[in-house]
Amino acid sequence: MGNDQRVLTEEKIGIFEEKKAALMAMAGEKMVRKQHELGKLTARERVNLFFDPGSFQEVQLFVKHRSTLFGLGEKEIPADGVITGFGRINGRTVFAAAQDFTSAGGSLGEMHAKKIWKVMDMALSARKPFVSLNDSGGARIQEGVPSLEGYGGIFYRNTIGSGYIPQITAIMGPTAGGAVYSPALTDWVFMVKKSSFMYITGPDVIKAVIGEEVSHDDLGGANTHATKSGVCHFATESDEDCLAKIRTLLSYLPDSCHSPLPIAPGTDSPDRECPELDAIIPDRTNRAYDMKRVIAAVADGGVMFEPHELWAKNMVVTFIRVMGLPVGVIANNPKFNAGVLDVQASDKASRFIRFCDAFNIPLLTFSDVPGYMPGTHQEWAGIISHGAKLLHAYSEATVPKITVVTRKDYGGAYIAMCSKHLGADYVMAWPSAEIAVMGAEGACNIIYRKEIAAAPDPAGKRAELVRSYEEQFNNPYFAAGLGMIEEIIRPRDTRRRIVTLLEALRDKTEVRLPKKHNNIPL
Ligand code: HXC
Repeated sequence: MGNDQRVLTEEKIGIFEEKKAALMAMAGEKMVRKQHELGKLTARERVNLFFDPGSFQEVQLFVKHRSTLFGLGEKEIPADGVITGFGRINGRTVFAAAQDFTSAGGSLGEMHAKKIWKVMDMALSARKPFVSLNDSGGARIQEGVPSLEGYGGIFYRNTIGSGYIPQITAIMGPTAGGAVYSPALTDWVFMVKKSSFMYITGPDVIKAVIGEEVSHDDLGGANTHATKSGVCHFATESDEDCLAKIRTLLSYLPDSCHSPLPIAPGTDSPDRECPELDAIIPDRTNRAYDMKRVIAAVADGGVMFEPHELWAKNMVVTFIRVMGLPVGVIANNPKFNAGVLDVQASDKASRFIRFCDAFNIPLLTFSDVPGYMPGTHQEWAGIISHGAKLLHAYSEATVPKITVVTRKDYGGAYIAMCSKHLGADYVMAWPSAEIAVMGAEGACNIIYRKEIAAAPDPAGKRAELVRSYEEQFNNPYFAAGLGMIEEIIRPRDTRRRIVTLLEALRDKTEVRLPKKHNNIPL
């Protein structure tokens, strides 16, 4: 190579480095400072922190918008306001897009969207998870309808990828209008407290249209969506906390529905007894206890990773590991509303069950449920169709399904909590289990109403009849006698049994009727 040629190449490399450095600086120091003042990291800081050090590979850094309307022709938007690419999380490949709020408010125009489409398409064909770090003013207003096309293409890909690759969204700034729907189409929504919000229409529009006054945070902040709407699965403390929690979630998930589950190195014993569980059920049947203590006792090292921790607390859904294998747990929690099934609890459990089933994560159910929540509020909120989702989700799931009945298991709720009749592979009951159409008091008030009223001592008669009903049904033996539960176990043996069952059911296959898809009652 001659001298002239080398000089030319070095010059070209110099130009390239300069251009690249300009793009890497995003919208410049002032905007970066503003982002930090809002308590937020920049998009670049986020991807660098999120991925294993040095592993992030950026894609389409040089993409530019091509709009000339409303002064955009003269406006430089570095990387068109979104950083896209892939890298490794604990050694495993994950694709991501991170919107850069410093550049035109991270607004989504045609080319910004096409960059996101590109990495989503790569994630789909490579069969790897996709993570979106959102921080955006929404559709780039100056660009008009191409921005809407951009969102449409993302929604389409979210849907095509649903159940195929895990999709996760972190809301790390504003998300307004139709922009909220990509997060809602993904499997998991993380939000950062204080700095993020999501809503269809903001406080100003709400005030103008219906006269209601509400702050951004009350309307659509992380706490609101984590406690009231259930839109947010994980409300996190900071950008750092959010990114760390996404990494943890990914550690439970396979790359795709066709990939093996990630098995963690052994940290717990297969033979470990849980003696604390022998004493966990209170003497009186209407006393509460915390089902999370049962789940923690069974989990490797007592570790749970719990979505929706603050929403529909009467139902717990959580990931755990058992001998390193990820397991999805669904459990009534008697500590809240006696663990009753209501609209929110049904929705929460159904979506979790369907996620786990889609990604081959075995289901473990703990049942202690008095029934469905009565009242006009629930009936008018559609408990009939929401409750049906739970029946549907459990019935369609073909992963290993193990159920443990700890105490009450009454009526329709007994069927719904992964009974044998919905295809549970193995149902176990503790000696404290009560499997019946309903509680003894309520049952006797109905079937012996006339006898109780006619008795010289109605209270005494009722107590006698209740006792006899309890002897008949408020135990696991009647159901065990009919083969509706496989085994009655000492609570302390619960983990050991689950370890053995997960091992035995590991290669479970179940073939369903050939059809296009189910029609779950949405
Ligand atoms: C173009 C936008 C923008 C947008 C923000 N910017 N949002 N540019 N399109 N949607 C630009 C601003 O002009 C500004 O540019 C820079 O980003 C930073 O914005 P600020 O307003 O200075 O920031 P801040 O005060 O923090 O307020 C953030 C904000 C506000 C609350 C998000 O920008 C805002 O209300 N934006 C509009 C939100 C919105 O209504 N979007 C459309 C939603 S409808 P300069 O050059 O001054 O730095 C929608 C439809 C999607 O998205 C439909 C999908 C189906």
